[in-house]
Amino acid sequence: MREFILYSRKGRTDSRITSLHDAGRLDIVHECIVASLFLSHGLRRNVVSHACLSGPPSPPIHLKVDGKTLSDVRTDQETWRKIIVEALSQRPHPGVSASRMSFEELIKTKSEKAEIYVLEEDGEDLFQVEFGGNPVFVLGDHVGLPRKAEDFVLRYGEKISLGKQPYLAASCITVVNYFLDRKEASC
Ligand SMILES: C[S@@+](CC[C@H](N)C(=O)[O-])C[C@H]1O[C@@H](n2cnc3c(N)ncnc32)[C@H](O)[C@@H]1O
Repeated sequence: MREFILYSRKGRTDSRITSLHDAGRLDIVHECIVASLFLSHGLRRNVVSHACLSGPPSPPIHLKVDGKTLSDVRTDQETWRKIIVEALSQRPHPGVSASRMSFEELIKTKSEKAEIYVLEEDGEDLFQVEFGGNPVFVLGDHVGLPRKAEDFVLRYGEKISLGKQPYLAASCITVVNYFLDRKEASC
């Protein structure tokens, strides 16, 4: 089992969304969902993608996309705009849900059963980390993780790095998925 948690600072928390980009950069949420869950012609059934939306008008919202039950989806932005709007209107698509759980509650709950890793450029090199069976990876959006959120999550986990180059959040997810796929294949 792998999980990815994106902290979205400005992601809109109601269903008035005509453009993902203009709704507090929900396009980054879409990109992270696709990078987490989609293979060519298939879905990763062992992956869950979370987004903690902290934008107006009524944060927090926890958007969860579970590869185990996700169905009837494509990778394009318009498909996901509609799915997110439905989830925020409490009409969830299969495998997708929205709740009022805060980022802090989510991290605390996950830390009871999984290892938490915060993706940061100045963390320990990914290649040196011994991952357990249920890693949870936390990422910031285009602005990065707020200091308060980072301090909170580091009470439960450790920082890991993909190197000094700053990458898009979704690119980081692709790299982590690839790295763990290769590791699992060599076991
Ligand atoms: C586009 S980056 C944000 C960059 C932003 N300028 C900042 O100061 O954090 C989005 C997220 O991707 C992750 N990230 C980007 N590059 C990384 C790297 N080289 N190693 C680990 N995580 C990285 C971090 O979680 C970061 O918050």
